[in-house]
Amino acid sequence: MDMMMLVQGAAACCSNQWLAAVILSVCCLLPSCLPGGQSMDYSGPGVDNLVVKQGETAMLRCFLEEGPSKGAWLNRSSIIFAGNDKWSVDPRVSIATTNKKEYSLRIQKVDIFDDGVYICSVQTEHSPRTKQVHLTVQVSPKIYDISPNMVVNEGTNVSLTCLASGKPEPSILWKHISPSAKPFGSGQYLDIYGITRDQAGEYECLAENTVPFPDVKKVNIIVNFAPTILEITPSGVSLGKTGLIRCETASVPTPSFEWYKGDKKLTNGQRGILIKNYNTRSILHVSNVTEEHFGNYTCVAINKLGTSNASLPLNQIIETSTSSPVTSSAPSTAQYGITGRAEILFSCWYLVLTLSSFTSIIYLKNVVIQ
Ligand SMILES: *[C@@H]1O[C@H](CO)[C@@H](O)[C@H](O)[C@H]1NC(C)=O
Ligand SMILES: *[C@@H]1O[C@H](CO)[C@@H](O)[C@H](O)[C@H]1NC(C)=O
Ligand SMILES: *[C@@H]1O[C@H](CO)[C@@H](O)[C@H](O)[C@H]1NC(C)=O
Ligand SMILES: *[C@@H]1O[C@H](CO)[C@@H](O)[C@H](O)[C@H]1NC(C)=O
Ligand SMILES: *[C@@H]1O[C@H](CO)[C@@H](O)[C@H](O)[C@H]1NC(C)=O
Repeated sequence: MDMMMLVQGAAACCSNQWLAAVILSVCCLLPSCLPGGQSMDYSGPGVDNLVVKQGETAMLRCFLEEGPSKGAWLNRSSIIFAGNDKWSVDPRVSIATTNKKEYSLRIQKVDIFDDGVYICSVQTEHSPRTKQVHLTVQVSPKIYDISPNMVVNEGTNVSLTCLASGKPEPSILWKHISPSAKPFGSGQYLDIYGITRDQAGEYECLAENTVPFPDVKKVNIIVNFAPTILEITPSGVSLGKTGLIRCETASVPTPSFEWYKGDKKLTNGQRGILIKNYNTRSILHVSNVTEEHFGNYTCVAINKLGTSNASLPLNQIIETSTSSPVTSSAPSTAQYGITGRAEILFSCWYLVLTLSSFTSIIYLKNVVIQ
C-alpha cells in the first residue's frame, strides 16, 4: 500500500518517468515488498556491508555510469534522494560527490534507528542497476540497570543484577573490588550463596563489546555479622601508672561495649576508670593502678546480631615498661575490612607485646636474684 502511494506521489511530484522506473525496479528488492516470512540475503555481489559506530558519519558509496545517468537513494520504503532532489527531511543526510560520477550518501551522527538496508539505484538509458548497502550501527555498552547498594546478614543468598545495552550485545564481567580486585563471575546475574564477611565490599560490573568504551558501575554490599572478640590484652599495667586493657573485635555493624570486673559493671569515671570506644575496639584505661584493681575483667561486645565476651584475669604486675604505652598505642579508627592498616597495627601490637614479655622476664629474673 505505501509503495503504491509512494509511486503515485513520486509520479505526481516529479513526473519523472525514470523515477517511477527506479521505484518499481527497486521495489522487489526491499524487504517490505517481500511476501510475509521471507527474508533477504544481504550478502553477494552488489551488496556492501558497512559498519559504523553510533555518532560517527557513515559514507554509503555509489557511482553513476558513464554517459547520461541518474541516481536515487532509498531507505526501506522511502526515498531519501532522487537525483539532486532531497526527499528526506532529515538534516543529517546529504549526497557526497568528489567527482562527477560519485553519488554517495552521507549520513552524519548515525544512530541505532539508521541501521538497515539502503539502496542506490542507478538509471541509464540501457541498463538500470541497483546496489545495496547494509548499514550496521554499533553502539557502546551502557549499563541501564544495576542492583542498589545493600546491607545483608552473613549467610544470606545475594543476587546482583547488571543489565547493559549495546550493539553487539555486551558481555558482563564482575569483579570483587575490595579487598583484592579479583574476577568474580560473568553474566547479567551474579549469585552469591550464603555470603560471608570476606565477600563484603564493592562489586564492579563491567560491560564491554567491540566498540570503545566499556561501561562500569559499582554495587556496595555490607555484610552484617555478630561480634567476635579477636583478642583482649593488657598493657602498661604497673602500680601507680596508667594501665589499659584493649578489647579487639570483628563486628558489623560496630558493636557497643560493656566492661565488667568480676560481676560488677564498670562505668566511665568510676574510680579512675575511663572507657574509650573506637569502631570495633574498646580500651579500658585505669589511671594510677593499685592492688585493688586486680581481678577478672570481662569485655562484652554487642550488636543487633549477637553478643560475645572474653575475660582477662589481672592479678599481677605484668609489665615494667616506664614509658606510657597509652601514647604509643594511639587507637586506630580503621574499620573492619580495611585490613591493610589493621594488619600493620596488629603487627605493631605483637611487637609491643613480645618486647613487654621480654622486659617482664628480665623483671622476674631481677626479683628472683634479689
Ligand atoms: C531510514 O529509515 C528509518 C525507518 O524509517 C528511519 O528511522 C531512519 O531515520 C532512516 N535513515 C535515514 C538516514 O534516512
Ligand atoms: C540459598 O540458596 C541455596 C541454594 O539454592 C538454598 O538451598 C538455600 O535454601 C538458600 N537460602 C536461603 C536463606 O534462601
Ligand atoms: C595513686 O594512688 C595512691 C594510693 O591511693 C596515692 O597514694 C597516689 O598519690 C596516687 N598517685 C597519683 C599520681 O594519683
Ligand atoms: C572471669 O569472668 C568470666 C565471666 O564472669 C568467667 O566466665 C571466668 O571464668 C572468669 N575467669 C576467672 C579466671 O575467674
Ligand atoms: C559470656 O558468654 C557466656 C557464653 O558465651 C555467657 O554464658 C555469659 O553470660 C557471658 N557473660 C557476660 C558477662 O555477658
